[in-house]
Amino acid sequence: MRIRTGISGFDDLIQGGLVPNRVYIVAGPPGSGKSTFGVQFLIQGAREGERGLFVSLTEDPKSLIEDMSTFNFGLRRYTVTGMILFVDMGPLSIQYFQAVKDVRSIGHTYAQEVFKKISAIVKTRNIKRLVIDSILTLKFGSGEREEQNREIARFFRSLKDLKVTTLILSEMTDLSNYSPEHYLSHGVIFLHNFLNGHNMVRAIQVIKMRGTKHNCDMYKMDITADGIRVYPTKV
Ligand SMILES: Nc1ncnc2c1ncn2[C@@H]1O[C@H](COP(=O)(O)OP(=O)(O)OP(=O)(O)O)[C@@H](O)[C@H]1O
Ligand SMILES: [Mg+2]
Repeated sequence: MRIRTGISGFDDLIQGGLVPNRVYIVAGPPGSGKSTFGVQFLIQGAREGERGLFVSLTEDPKSLIEDMSTFNFGLRRYTVTGMILFVDMGPLSIQYFQAVKDVRSIGHTYAQEVFKKISAIVKTRNIKRLVIDSILTLKFGSGEREEQNREIARFFRSLKDLKVTTLILSEMTDLSNYSPEHYLSHGVIFLHNFLNGHNMVRAIQVIKMRGTKHNCDMYKMDITADGIRVYPTKV
């Protein structure tokens, strides 16, 4: 069985959709469409009767909902019916960093704290699709690079046990510099937005998708009033 992403034209590139209950990375530079991709994925779930959770670690969900309501998804309707929940875990991070100078003093890290909250919502609200925006803040929670890597590995492991299909949005812009999350995830999708001559070009690329026949080419995409649209044309 495959989970349809709801991104027009994209599921055809990955044998009909995502393998359920796995963790995926959606990476790209600023404005490349990561949050839009995440919201469209949740809209598709809501349309199919699956409840979704959007965890915001950076931005106030209110402004995100406002921005995403400019698309023709009918997002507000789903937030009102509770089919899509937006949770702000940003203030939590601020409290955490102010209060906890030394992680050892409270016995758990920021990423663990975030996971605990996510896990409680997923279980009590029967969440089937999860989006975490974004991984950057989770890394700030731990000190040294090695500790960060251990923390991210633990976070992924916990998510995999949660049995919910998860997209983790990632700000990665240096395409030659892979991070542990790219290895730990079940699939990695890159959103590109680059200058070609005088024009900016948007493209989508599946870097990896375990258990799925796909190619690694870049496909033309657009962000329209209906959200992200992927074309069968290679860039
Ligand atoms: N209603 C709309 N119709 C068409 N395009 C839109 C609309 N709203 C936003 N966009 C386009 O989508 C882009 C923003 O996409 P999105 O916020 O998903 O990117 P992002 O990768 O999450 O960015 P960031 O790294 O800043 O979080 C805007 O820069 C704009 O080009
Ligand atoms: Mg965003």
